[in-house]
Amino acid sequence: MSLQKIAVDNYTVFVGNTCWNELSEMVNSDNYSSARFFVLVDEHTLAHCWPILANAVPQLQNAEIIEINSGESEKNLDICYQLWKVLDELEADRHSVMIQLGGGVIGDMGGFVAATFKRGIRFIQLPTTLLAQVDASVGGKTGVDFEHKKNQVGVFANPDAVFIAPQFLDSLTDDQLRSGSAEMFKHALVADPAYWEVMCHADLRNAKQAAKLITRSVEIKRDIVTADPHENGWRKLLNFGHTIGHAFETMALESDGAPLQHGDAVAAGMICETYLSQKLNGLPKEDMEQVCHFLAERFPAIAFEDINVHRLLELMRSDKKNSGGRVNFTFLEKIGKGSVNHTAENNAIVEALYYYRELVSTTA
Ligand SMILES: NC(=O)c1ccc[n+]([C@@H]2O[C@H](COP(=O)([O-])OP(=O)(O)OC[C@H]3O[C@@H](n4cnc5c(N)ncnc54)[C@H](O)[C@@H]3O)[C@@H](O)[C@H]2O)c1
Ligand SMILES: [Zn+2]
Repeated sequence: MSLQKIAVDNYTVFVGNTCWNELSEMVNSDNYSSARFFVLVDEHTLAHCWPILANAVPQLQNAEIIEINSGESEKNLDICYQLWKVLDELEADRHSVMIQLGGGVIGDMGGFVAATFKRGIRFIQLPTTLLAQVDASVGGKTGVDFEHKKNQVGVFANPDAVFIAPQFLDSLTDDQLRSGSAEMFKHALVADPAYWEVMCHADLRNAKQAAKLITRSVEIKRDIVTADPHENGWRKLLNFGHTIGHAFETMALESDGAPLQHGDAVAAGMICETYLSQKLNGLPKEDMEQVCHFLAERFPAIAFEDINVHRLLELMRSDKKNSGGRVNFTFLEKIGKGSVNHTAENNAIVEALYYYRELVSTTA
């Protein structure tokens, strides 16, 4: 598939392995003639992605490489301080450009550091995980975690451009790829029935298919966020699966076990919220069964005991997306059509959790 160009606000998202031509043109353009480039990486993207970039865009071989350690725990203000300090020591100026070469952690934190250094320098996003390509790369949210709260400090800031090269996915594990795909299933379920059908049979290891599917996800996210840039209503469509998914994610963090992958938690959340959509929002039963069985087969089961249910409800209630003590849900009306600002009684939520547990026990 040839290169795809998706216009978002005042910048373009390029999707395809030939996007390097556009990036080369961009860094050689008059706009960047006095620019110095600072490429933010972690140890994994330095090893796997920087060689690809340096080879494809030789002009960047002289860029300053700034390396941080990988991991969500690095996405904090202490690391931002170090990054601002490095930029200052290297005498980055208002003409400088930061290039974020990494997953959502690099993208969110690098974007925030760029957007605030000297009241904002230009930056370019080169997302290298599927999650970052289909989700974090669009919407202008940048920031870091603070006092154990996710994304608590940040700003909305747009990059100059986003370049999505599916070839970066080659070095991701199957688990990472599956986790990122959950957001694509979510895009399909809330906005595009034909895309759901395609996603159900997709092979994301095939670069051509991946480019096409990533493009569709980026378009859907673009359409949703441009209709509601500051999350007043419509953008809540993107929360589908996340109300219950976040509760699973936090519960895993509170226990001693391995942390859950975000997408796996969201997939479990989507099963529960699809069940609620049928019970409370008129989603046809056959749609519900199709979605729930598919996701249960595709994503790993998350175990919980009866004793955990109360904690899960508490976590949903304390989610930052709620107001006035009610749990806010995004439901489906049918496959490919979501609707926002719903609520559910505790007993219905508990029923959904038990439905999930029963379903995954028979699917395994
Ligand atoms: N800004 C937004 O709108 C938005 C949306 C969704 C998620 N996020 C944020 O994104 C973050 C999660 O992103 P993530 O899942 O990409 O995690 P991540 O950035 O931590 O990357 C996951 C791991 O993959 C490694 N990696 C990255 N690219 C690789 C490649 N091509 N090959 C091999 N390894 C590679 C990284 O080094 C890291 O170890 C969270 O902090 C979340 O808050 C932001
Ligand atoms: Zn998500």
